[in-house]
Amino acid sequence: FYFPEPQNEPVYAYAPGSQERQLLKQQLVHHKAEELDIPMYINGQEVRTGQRIAIHPPHELRHTLGYYHKGDASHVQAAIDAALKAKAAWASMPWEHRASIFLKAADLITDKYRYAMNATTMLGQSKNVFQAEIDAVCELADFLRFNVHYLSEIYAQQPISPHGVYNRMEYRPLEGFVVAITPFNFSSIAGNLPTVAAMCGNVVVWKPAENQIYAAQQFMRILIEAGLPAGVINLVFAPGATVGEICFNHPDFAGVHFTGSTTVFQDMWNKIGQHIARYKSYPRIVGETGGKDFVIAHASADIDAVVANLVRGAFEYQGQKCSAASRAYLPSNLADKIVDKLIHEVKTIRMGTVEDFRNFMNAVIDEKAFDKITGYIEQARKSPQAQILVGGNASKEEGYFIEPTVIEAKDPHFVTMEEEIFGPVLSVYVYDEKHYEETLDLVDRTSPYALTGSVFATDRKAILLAEQKLVNSAGNFYINDKPTGAVVGQQPFGGARASGTNDKAGSILNLYRWLSVRTIKETF
Ligand code: SER
Repeated sequence: FYFPEPQNEPVYAYAPGSQERQLLKQQLVHHKAEELDIPMYINGQEVRTGQRIAIHPPHELRHTLGYYHKGDASHVQAAIDAALKAKAAWASMPWEHRASIFLKAADLITDKYRYAMNATTMLGQSKNVFQAEIDAVCELADFLRFNVHYLSEIYAQQPISPHGVYNRMEYRPLEGFVVAITPFNFSSIAGNLPTVAAMCGNVVVWKPAENQIYAAQQFMRILIEAGLPAGVINLVFAPGATVGEICFNHPDFAGVHFTGSTTVFQDMWNKIGQHIARYKSYPRIVGETGGKDFVIAHASADIDAVVANLVRGAFEYQGQKCSAASRAYLPSNLADKIVDKLIHEVKTIRMGTVEDFRNFMNAVIDEKAFDKITGYIEQARKSPQAQILVGGNASKEEGYFIEPTVIEAKDPHFVTMEEEIFGPVLSVYVYDEKHYEETLDLVDRTSPYALTGSVFATDRKAILLAEQKLVNSAGNFYINDKPTGAVVGQQPFGGARASGTNDKAGSILNLYRWLSVRTIKETF
């Protein structure tokens, strides 16, 4: 059954006075008043342990959104058992029925629960309305619909059969269970990692980031309403180390779908390597793990385009996108003008709660992130190699607020030019415009990551040179655009080097990782 390519879900504007804004505001009020008691979901059952952990909006720490029930090793084990029990029936369910569940979930997101998905993501992860809408609604629905389309394309791909022979490829799921370990920063990624594997007929243990549980449970409830059978996806709130310990030790471990930090991912590879002899098959290890994403402006760049895209690329969602613009290279002929405009623009940024829709920025996710980010800002403040051009102040009294901060680095290897900060901090370095080519080499050598990057130029030769020299420096390369905001079906997303396995979320390539093909030859 072929499912044609869908349209990307349109993004609502939530203009002042609009009905959609009114409805979303009502949901925000409703969710703030609700104080949810959030269970784990194992084998289709709600599991409450009594070990309740409070959830607070990062921008309003005094408020409690609800509590989730923390699990332990026994719950991870129960989730694996439930998954394996559900496996045979799920894998043999006719494909169009599996597909129908995910298509219905996408429609529930965009129609019945649009405002609820946005409200939980806004409150739980401190996203403004636009950032929530493009993530928890549009991108998540797109992932579900496009992945159904891609999988239907894969199933249709068959080998040739000469006379007297019938060759076929049977796109089976992996043998065993898959574990999805998902990040706080995108509800869409959190929803995509377990569902793309499940769609292929796999059964899944899903461990969301602690800071995304509030929206994760909303999506889990949608999956159940859409008809996902018990045990196919099991949502557990055990510590990451416990999940790894139990899952990576299990002979039926078939694969991990991960988005998070490079160190955690490398640690996983080591653990999986240690247990490699006990698995039935070599597990699929698919991960997206961060970046130090660059913007390079050429001497021919359009100044306004550079500034506008630096502001959006660096500071939307407080710079907490793995794709965020984090280091910029400005040519000496344009640097003063770009920096002046950038400072001016950054000073106009409003920051505060998500309920005030005029706020472009909200809080960073938690205290650990706050301390890490402000630590980098302090290093810049103290160093003769750097100068804070704008921002630099922070407060964790009401919420974890950090001003959008631009640092000028005198040394292109200053720490904030090299290390992933994952916050609203942009470092700029001014290069001699005559040394564009050498600067491209510098961009390539400066960081171990290779996720996203942008070049701004009007000179075609300069664009071509950047594209050629930075061939391995970014899995997503943008020309005259910000390095964030990949759209499912339009810009397949992912990077290599320390940024991950480059299995391109939002494209057909990712789906292949969750299938184990049997080739069948029948002779007549
Ligand atoms: N896909 C997101 C972006 O492109 C990052 O995960 O910004």
